[in-house]
Order: sequence, then C-alpha cells, then structure tokens
Amino acid sequence: MSVDNPFAGHQLVSPTLSFETAAQVLADRYGRTGPLKSLGSHQDQNFLADCPDGRFVLKISNPGFTRVGLEAQNAAMLHLAVKDIDFRVPVPLPDVNGDLIGQIDDQGRTFDVRLVTFLDGSPLSEFEYLAPIVLQRHGALAAQAAQALADFSHEGLDRVLQWDCRRAGEVVDALVDHVADAERRTQIRGETDRAMSALNAVDSSLRLGVVHADATDVNVVVTVGPDGRPIPDGLIDFGDMLNTWIVSDVAVAAVSLVVHDLDRPVHVVSEIAKGFHSAYPLTKAEAGALWPMVIARAAACCVSSEQQALMEPHNDYAQESRESDWRIWDAIRSIPWPLAQAVIQNHLGLLGWATPDTSSWVPVVQLPADASILDQSVTGDSTPTRREFAVGRYGEGRLNESNQSSVTTGAEIFAPAGTPVVAPASGRVIRAGDKAVHLAIGDVGVVLCGLAPSVQAGTSVQQGDLLGHMVELESTGPLLVQLVTTTEVMPPHFADSSTGWHLLAIDPSPLLDTDVVDSRSTPEELIGRRDAVLATAQEHYYDDPPRIERGTRHFLFDSDGRRYLDMVNNVTILGHSHPAVHDAVERQLRLINTNSRFNYGAMVDLAEQISALLPEPLDTVFLVSTGSEANEVALRLVRAATAAKDIVAVKSAYHGWTTATDEISTSIADNPAAVANRPEWIHVIDSPNPYRGAHRGDAAAKYASEAISELDAIADSGRQIAAFVAEPVYGNAGGMLLPEGYLHAIYEKVRGLGGLCVSDEVQVGYGRLGHHFWGFEQQGVTPDVVTMAKCTGNGIPVGAVVTTRAIADALQDAEGSFFSSMGGSPVGAAAGLAVLETMRREGLQQNAATVGDHMKRRLEELMSRHPMIGTVHGMGLYLGIELVQHPETLEPASHQALAICDRMLELGVVVQPTSDHMNVLKVKPPLCIDIHSADHFVDALDRTLSEGW
Ligand SMILES: Cc1ncc(COP(=O)(O)O)c(C=O)c1O
Repeated sequence: MSVDNPFAGHQLVSPTLSFETAAQVLADRYGRTGPLKSLGSHQDQNFLADCPDGRFVLKISNPGFTRVGLEAQNAAMLHLAVKDIDFRVPVPLPDVNGDLIGQIDDQGRTFDVRLVTFLDGSPLSEFEYLAPIVLQRHGALAAQAAQALADFSHEGLDRVLQWDCRRAGEVVDALVDHVADAERRTQIRGETDRAMSALNAVDSSLRLGVVHADATDVNVVVTVGPDGRPIPDGLIDFGDMLNTWIVSDVAVAAVSLVVHDLDRPVHVVSEIAKGFHSAYPLTKAEAGALWPMVIARAAACCVSSEQQALMEPHNDYAQESRESDWRIWDAIRSIPWPLAQAVIQNHLGLLGWATPDTSSWVPVVQLPADASILDQSVTGDSTPTRREFAVGRYGEGRLNESNQSSVTTGAEIFAPAGTPVVAPASGRVIRAGDKAVHLAIGDVGVVLCGLAPSVQAGTSVQQGDLLGHMVELESTGPLLVQLVTTTEVMPPHFADSSTGWHLLAIDPSPLLDTDVVDSRSTPEELIGRRDAVLATAQEHYYDDPPRIERGTRHFLFDSDGRRYLDMVNNVTILGHSHPAVHDAVERQLRLINTNSRFNYGAMVDLAEQISALLPEPLDTVFLVSTGSEANEVALRLVRAATAAKDIVAVKSAYHGWTTATDEISTSIADNPAAVANRPEWIHVIDSPNPYRGAHRGDAAAKYASEAISELDAIADSGRQIAAFVAEPVYGNAGGMLLPEGYLHAIYEKVRGLGGLCVSDEVQVGYGRLGHHFWGFEQQGVTPDVVTMAKCTGNGIPVGAVVTTRAIADALQDAEGSFFSSMGGSPVGAAAGLAVLETMRREGLQQNAATVGDHMKRRLEELMSRHPMIGTVHGMGLYLGIELVQHPETLEPASHQALAICDRMLELGVVVQPTSDHMNVLKVKPPLCIDIHSADHFVDALDRTLSEGW
C-alpha cells in the first residue's frame, strides 16, 4: 500500500517554480514553447501552456505524492479516453524521452512533472447559479466516470489519502487543532463523530469501487449550451482517484457545489444525487449515507484548508478556499439530518417510511361531532372562531407576503381555553415546557404546541393521560398537532413545500380521528389533468407551472401561498381582484345580466365613456367580448365601407385567433406557417423594426417609403385595398415604437388608395403607454377604426370597436344588423365602467408614465453591464427587453430567454418572452405596479444575468 499525502501532521507545501523555469521545462522536456499562465491548485503547481499545436497543462506535482499514484492517474486517463463516455478527459503526453512522468530539480527540491492535454471551456466554478438540470448533469458525469472506471485497477489506487471520505474522521482528529475558534472546533468534532459513527454502522452496505473522488466544480469543465446554461462535459485532475465508497463521489461533488446555493444545500445535494442515480443507481443504504458523508467531507475540507492556509499565509487560493469551506460548512450544518436524508431519499424515489400503526390511538383533543374543518387556504375564506371547536387543515398553503410558500405541517385546533389535551398512545415525554409537549411513541414523534403542559420531560405517559390544557388563543394561537416520522426534530408550524418538512411531518389525521388534509391537486397533478382533458394547442406558461389561484394588485399567489410579481398581466390593468370590479360585477349580477338586445344603462354609459376618450370623428361604438372579436368586426366594417376585401398587415403581427384575424396575423411565434399560408387578399409589409430589421436607427425612415411603394404595387396589380391594420406600438414585438411618422405616411397613402386604417389597441392602448391613452396618439394620427379589449373589463370579457357613424352604417347597409350576445352585457359593461372610473380615480395612466419611465431608465442602465440586453423597447408600462447573443450580430437569445424566465420564476417573478424570435421579455404589468416592485423586477433580472440561470 502506498501512502500518498499522509495527513497526520505531514506538511504539504506546493512547488513554486518560476515562469522561466516552467518555460524551460516545457521546451527541454516536451519540445514546446508558448505563453504560460498559472492555474490555481490546492497542492500542486499547474501551468497552462498555449503552444502552436494546442493547449496543455504542465503539472508539477507536490513531492508528497508518490510516483505510483501519478502512474495510476495517467493510466486512468488513458483508460477513460478509449471508453464510450459522453464527457471529455485530458490525456498525458510523453516527453522527449517517451516518458509520461519526468523529474525536474528546482531550488534544491525534486519534482515529478507531466504534460497533459487541456480541456477547452471554463470550470463549472465560474458559474454562480446552477439550475437543477446542471446539477443533475454534474452528478451524471461523476456516475459515468465511476461506471467507466469499474474495470480499472492499478496498484497506485490502494492508498491512504486525506480526501478519502472513509478517513474523514481521522483527518478531523489530526487537523482539528488548526481551527482557532474553540466553538467551531467542538462543533466540527462533534458533527464528524456523529457522521462517522452513522457511516461505520452501514459501512458493509456501501459499495466500493474506483472513483475519481474529486469531481468538484473546479475539476469539472463545461461547454455552454444553447440556452446559456453550462453543460458539465469534462473531467480533469485525477490526483485523488482511489478505491473507496462509490457514493462518496456524490458527496465530494455536492460539498463543492453547495457554495453555488448556500441557502439550499439539500437541494444541491439531492439534485446531484438524482443525476448520479439516473446513470448509476444508488441503493437505499447509499442514499441514506449520503448526508452524513456530506457532513464528514465538509468537515475534512474545513480542517484541511485551515491547515493549508496556516502553512501558506500568502497563498490567496488557500485563504479563499478556507473562507469558502466554512461557508459551506455553516450551510450544511444548519439542516437537521433527518430532513436532509428524507429529501435526498425522496428525490431518488427511495423514501419509504414504515407507516406508524395508529389504529389503537385516541384523539389528542375530543372534538365535538359538529367541529368545523376550516378552509384557510389561499382560496379559502374561513376565519377561525374564538371559542368554538374548529380544525385548520394539514398541508394547506397560506397567503403570505414572502417569496417562500407557507404550508401547514400539522393540524390546528381552535378550542376554548382549558380544553384537555391527552396522550394518543403510551410513550415518553421528550420535552415539555414553553407551551409545547414533544412525545415519543415508539419511533414516531407527536408534537403539540400551544398548550399549558402538565407533564415533565423524561417521564412516561399512558394512552389517554392528560398532557396539558389549551390556553387562550390570543396568547399562543391554535393548538398545533404534528405527527412526525422521527423523534429527532420538531418541525416548524409552516414550511415552504420545497424544504421537505412535509416528508417528516406527515398527515396528523390519526391524532384527531378526523380527516384534516387539504387534498387539492398539487401543481403537477393539476397540469397532468389539464394535459389529459384540454387540447395541447391551448398553451400554458412554463413547463412546470405553479398552481396560481389568487392575485391581488400586481401580485399572484400559488396554492402553497407563495407570492410572485406579475410582469405580464395586461388583462388585469387595475390589478388582480380589484374590489371596484368585484363590487360592480357582483352588484350587476344581483340585478340583471342578459344579452345586449335589451335597453339598459350600463351598455350606453360605457359606450359613451369610451367614445368620449376618442377624437372626432370616432363616435360610434360596437361592444364585443374579446380582442379577436373586435378585430373581426373591424374587418367586416372596413370591407362593408369600401366594398373591397384586401387587407394590408405588418409582418410578425398578432391580431387574434378567429379565422379572419388569424389570417391577418403573421407572427411565426404563434403559427410557424403564418406568412406562407396567407390567402391572396392579405398583403404583408415588412415589420418596421428599427433595431434588427432591414433598416436600423435613423435609416428606419425607409420602412414607410418602401411600404408606400408596395401599396402602389398592390394597387397597380388591380387589387383594391380595404384597410391597413396594425398595432400603433408594436406590442407583439415587445412594445417596439414605430419609426417616427411611419403611420402618418402609410395612413395617408392607404386613404389615397381608397382604403381605411385600423388601429389595434388591444394590447398597447387604454393608458398603458402612460404618456398617451391610445397608441395612435404616439404616432400623431387618427385611425378610422379602433379596436380594444383585454384590459377593458380587467379580465371580465368586454371589448369595443369604435369608428365613424358613416362606416358603422355601411355595415348595416351591406349586411344588416349586428348582434354579439355577450358584447356589452350588463355585467361586462358594469366591469368596463368600473375600470374607467378606477383608472381615473387611482391615476393609473400617470402611474404608468412614472413607473414605466423609471423602469425603462433602470433597464437601460443594465445594458451597460449586460451586453445580452440588446435594447429596451417601448414606453410606459409596455416595455420589451430584447435579449441577444451578441451586441453586434444581434443573434436572438431565444433559448436563453426561456431559461431566464424559468430562473426569474424561481426568484418569484412572472415574465415571458414574445416576438417572432421569442427573445424579447415583455413587461406589461398591471398599471398599479409601484416603483418598489419595478425595482424588484429589475434587480431580479440583474441578478439572473449576473449569476446565470
Ligand atoms: C394586438 C392584439 N390584438 C388582438 C388580440 C386578440 O385578443 P383576444 O385574445 O382577446 O381575442 C391580441 C391578443 O393577444 C393582441 O395582442
């Protein structure tokens, strides 16, 4: 057995060759020249050599390592290089004598030297945030390496190594005295002892094999995928390879990656384990051993880096490693073991509790038969009573203002003070006091919080024994009743559903002899039901969407009570569940709701108010339900008024889903065949995109002249134009402002050719632009027909088409009467009136100008730090953040945009891409959004673009 790097007091000082010496070695030994760069290393010295025939790493080994160990590394790299693996490894190259390992002398010391190929790409350590898919891929890479090394053997692997997880206890014993802080010393020692005894107890169930044993974030190299996420696909530094517990490879990788998400160490470990498990299935024992192994590994890292930092006080790398190792330690140590173990096992599908036998248990509180089960969920409205018996449910999400979900981990009992609480079965009191009793019943824990205990810790209780009495609700809240699969922890009252507490705090119904579970479908179950029953074409946001069940102002809440900032909801212009709309609709529903053929006030009032918002001669209104319907009416109007059929539309536009509006919609994001399948009566002119189109910047003026030539050509071909239809600010392109004078020139030409002009204000109109109520005002034109919907009812279907009396009459003359059953119904009209009144009262258009200007300024500031933001389109609260691969090529960052939206969702922000390339983040929140939330959005985007996604 060789002894590499014996840790007990042996000091390892890295080699310190000068660049000149290293260059000489490269030239003399390997016949190569090229600039050298130092690469950080814990104990060796590595130089990156940029040579004419490629890039190489010149490795000067620490004299503490044996030659046979280096031979084993070389053999392993060559072994992997010929295996069928989907990741890259470096290979050692012979020197001028044909040797893979040479020796050099420097300052009186002798070092082994090697040259290996360099893997292009960055180490994973350079990426801050790592998405679950990246963590899984990292784990899968380690697993593949372990699999490919299964048939590899070398005498150099059978060695004592400081980094062998099996020896973490010995390492801590030997080095813990280097830790200056006494409290930390005690903590490290205690936790390591506990971890090692847990591991030794299952040692015989942990499989052994040859593993890389150092697949840390600095030793895994990545290429960047099309979505901008790193793909771990290269493994370097085989210096710690040995025959040990196979699962230790997961622990080693996981401990190094925790630094990327210090708030969620268990998430990091479980995602890496999942990736490993997918390629190299772990056993239940290995999954259970992983967390103690993570603790032991983290402890060994801390004490080793303390030693290294003391030995090399001027080595920045050593000092930084020490800091980082302690941060990782603190993060890992803060998680209760049973919780971490349950999350990991559950994530691998290996969690299996023996369900406690509660068949003979008695209820902890005798509930009367008429005790109500409350609904305090996100959608519920039960208010707990003071003196009557009632039960709050387990697993119920509760509204809260944070970015975390808040789900009950037990049942809550509301009952009069003095109500007795008894033991459900015979057991032992673990803890009593501070208004709580913690009982152990066999292996199971029962936690009761919110009572005056009448038992003492350490005593035994029999079934039915009094544990205490309930106290006044005001002083403690309800009695919380938890059933826990372990006696080791007392779960918090509420927990985020991702933390795993609900794996430990299980359904407490047996403690009350009543079903107390909130059994609504989880988001995953709901989307499964949705996929089964709804057409796939009826799309939804996100691959794994949260279950959004509530909203208020510019916030959304999911069923677990987590709050999201809503940056996409232009339908709810006033904000979600605005009481003004609610009250108006409720009142109207109580009075009458009918079709629009009756004579009632709301319809007329709304039509009058909308018409008053438009310039002369736009004074005649049709009320409809949706934007598609509004545009459909507009098409019929212009055709009736001109007796022509042809429509000119702008490329990449969207005007609705109905047959005719779909035909004039050319957005390939919605329909890839949109342009190719146009009927002959549609003429599509170029999108006047001043950012990425044919004419950019000042040259964008050419779009209008080109369009005019095309209009002439259409007319010359003998076709009669009925209308030109366009959004006045290009919402579908992300709020892109049209070139100055564009609509003016085109409207004039169209009218000159006998056509009419339709302004689709469905997305951008109605005050959203802040500085203008209507989009056409921004262009200084007056259309012949204006369409609006979406926001007009704050979500209640009501829309409108406004035109001149003459055009409206033309429809009647040509086609008779018009009737849309729901268009302008009493309820729709009442909602529409409430929207206009509230917009005025709350100054929402002004708010759109103030907050929109602020947000645009801040987003433009981000551009200087994030070249990925190519431009910020729009005005007011219709903005578009255009993401590009490169500021010069402007190649759209489409895949990245979607991945960025996923990360923003994790950060609690709902935002989505739009445009033909789906690379523009559309920012169109409810108009009530405030500066604070606008800043929160910009900060979250800044963070995402800085840390990765
Ligand atoms: C500009 C524009 N016009 C029309 C429509 C169609 O509106 P609706 O979905 O209400 O039918 C949309 C919808 O996104 C739109 O963005």
